[in-house]
Amino acid sequence: MTYRKSVFITGASSGIGKSLAFEYAKKKYIIGLTARRDQLLKEIALKCNKLGGEAYAYKLDVTNGENCKKVASEFLKKVNSMDIIIANAGISGDDGIYDSNSKKINNILNTNIIGVTNSLMPFIPTLKKQGDGTLVCLSSVAGFFPIPYRGGYSSSKVAIRMIFDAWRPILNKYNIKMITICPGFIDTPIIKGPAENFPMVPVDKAAIKFFRIIKRGNGTYVYPWYYRIIIFLMLIIPNKLINFILKRMFSRRER
Ligand SMILES: NC(=O)c1ccc[n+]([C@@H]2O[C@H](COP(=O)([O-])OP(=O)(O)OC[C@H]3O[C@@H](n4cnc5c(N)ncnc54)[C@H](OP(=O)(O)O)[C@@H]3O)[C@@H](O)[C@H]2O)c1
Repeated sequence: MTYRKSVFITGASSGIGKSLAFEYAKKKYIIGLTARRDQLLKEIALKCNKLGGEAYAYKLDVTNGENCKKVASEFLKKVNSMDIIIANAGISGDDGIYDSNSKKINNILNTNIIGVTNSLMPFIPTLKKQGDGTLVCLSSVAGFFPIPYRGGYSSSKVAIRMIFDAWRPILNKYNIKMITICPGFIDTPIIKGPAENFPMVPVDKAAIKFFRIIKRGNGTYVYPWYYRIIIFLMLIIPNKLINFILKRMFSRRER
């Protein structure tokens, strides 16, 4: 029997997660695919198997911690060793600032922060015991600057980056690599409305790059590279000026 490495991907029914699944399938990995839309997952699993992978599809809502634990333990029974876990599932959207309730923003925070800890933490004891493995989260360049009406999204991406920064020195001692990927605009269904007018990287191209980063990296990676310039400018431009510019940019929406 040939030895296969393993990868577990949340949010594999679409976009970056789906394209990453195909990359790992081409490299003959055992792949755990999870998302809420299980019919889509089954089709993606079939394609992964055709590409040379060994895929298992699990219907999973990452906001449900107990189910995350169950699915993780089911997948662990299928693998020789647990190599890579990618917390990719995420949503974007309006905060609903004027809704007089916190439902919209809380749903984003719950999916993008709690969903990440729910997905990754059931695997950590196994990686620690193995003395090997890689944890990955999909943060965003949106975690480096405030986006009006999208405070939930931006802050969720800061939070997971910070969790990874805090865990990295601890888990590196057990040879567990911690990779935070901060993409700019990638052409996937999450990009809606005016954002669709920004230059976007094709998702398959991004997935090839992310595959390489995950193979070699241990740190925070911004992609494409030119967003690093914007991030640097955000650090040196005074907050008052940023606030002024954003007010001007978004003033039409308030009228
Ligand atoms: N595309 C970009 O420009 C961009 C930029 C920066 C960061 N990112 C990040 O990259 C990640 C992937 O996004 P994408 O661009 O590939 O968007 P996408 O095509 O909309 O994919 C999002 C995935 O997350 C899953 N998901 C959402 N809520 C879930 C939940 N509660 N439980 C389980 N799965 C859930 C969706 O599956 P189901 O609906 O089937 O559950 C879907 O598979 C996200 O974390 C996003 O914030 C994307």
